[in-house]
Amino acid sequence: MKEKIKLLKEMFKLDENDVARRKEALEKVSPYVDEIMDSFYEKILQKEVLAAFIDKDAIDVLKKKQIAFIVDLLSLPFDEKLYKKIAKVGVVHYHIRLDPLLMAYGYHVLSELILNQSKKDPTLLPYLKLIIKYLKVSEEIMTNEYFAQKRIEETPYKADDLFLALNRAHLAFIVYENGMKEYKPSQEAQEIFLQSIDELEIYKKVLQEVGINLSTLKRFHTEFVNTPTQESFMRLKNTLQKPLNDMSVTAYLATTSAAAMLKAMSLIVYHKILQKEDLTFKEIQNNVMTLLGENFGWAIERIRISKEESEEEDEDIAKHLMYKDTIYYLYVDFKPISNKLYIAQMVDVLCETIKTTLYLKHRE
Ligand code: HEM
Repeated sequence: MKEKIKLLKEMFKLDENDVARRKEALEKVSPYVDEIMDSFYEKILQKEVLAAFIDKDAIDVLKKKQIAFIVDLLSLPFDEKLYKKIAKVGVVHYHIRLDPLLMAYGYHVLSELILNQSKKDPTLLPYLKLIIKYLKVSEEIMTNEYFAQKRIEETPYKADDLFLALNRAHLAFIVYENGMKEYKPSQEAQEIFLQSIDELEIYKKVLQEVGINLSTLKRFHTEFVNTPTQESFMRLKNTLQKPLNDMSVTAYLATTSAAAMLKAMSLIVYHKILQKEDLTFKEIQNNVMTLLGENFGWAIERIRISKEESEEEDEDIAKHLMYKDTIYYLYVDFKPISNKLYIAQMVDVLCETIKTTLYLKHRE
């Protein structure tokens, strides 16, 4: 971190002894701070892509936190302690997945508003420039922290690839099977499935290690389309399910799913998923399908979300999802995997989180 601080000092020509000058700048700008922050949120809320991040009830708290942040930025020595404080805010924005370009737009808006104060009083200009310089420094640190967090999260070790690959393949298959009538897959389902297999090419090696050969999968698919029987369908399905008969593979997948589930839940809580004001039935279907599929696709046989109650009564998981004036029925069935009870418990927690989020949106 010391090296980074040195580089920043050099890049931005920071003066070791400018604390008094920064404090003076803070004093000069403080009569306008409330007005600046009000205009900041007004402008941010005008952009749909940014407004989606802001909970309107939390704006007052956010303003206070931002002001406290700027006070620290302008009154503390530029050292490791301040760097860490700024980096922490970078981590907060990474958690809400505020991409650096959106963050840069926020900084741009804030800087313009600050610079505009010189129209009222031109003698403010050098102070405003100093404030903007320190804002630029903090933006640089926050962007750096965003990518540092992203790197940590996406460290590409082989095991993770297997999890991603199997989930994607199984999710594609769930969609494929759902869109099929009496062993006749629709043209659209076929295209989606083949496209998903092509996307799996990057995981080819790791899939091969657990016994899934992509060319075999494609060949069985062609055979099934040409001769659509139960037998040819099962051949295709079994190719995909083969690794799930291996206890070490399913044990690993179960653990990874548990970790992924926690991440998915924090995403839901951060309103990144199911966040739009008014969701259509199709959007709810897609959101839920993606959430369950991306985290447990490998273990799920079937997901159904419908406005009608099911006639069958033996689904592994059945939930009522209430949104606005409608009740939707969510049914999940699992493959005959050995750790089914354990997985069902985890999926149940995820479904409950989805249910509560939708219910709370309904009450808003
Ligand atoms: C378009 C730009 C921005 C958006 C949409 C945005 C959004 C948010 C949101 C939603 C939070 C609350 C996160 C949470 O508690 O879960 C937050 C926290 C915060 N933001 Fe931003 N932000 C933006 C730009 C900025 C800028 C430019 C600064 C600084 C100059 C800043 C400083 C802060 C601070 C200090 C916090 C509190 C961090 C903490 O709780 O420790 N934000 N921001």
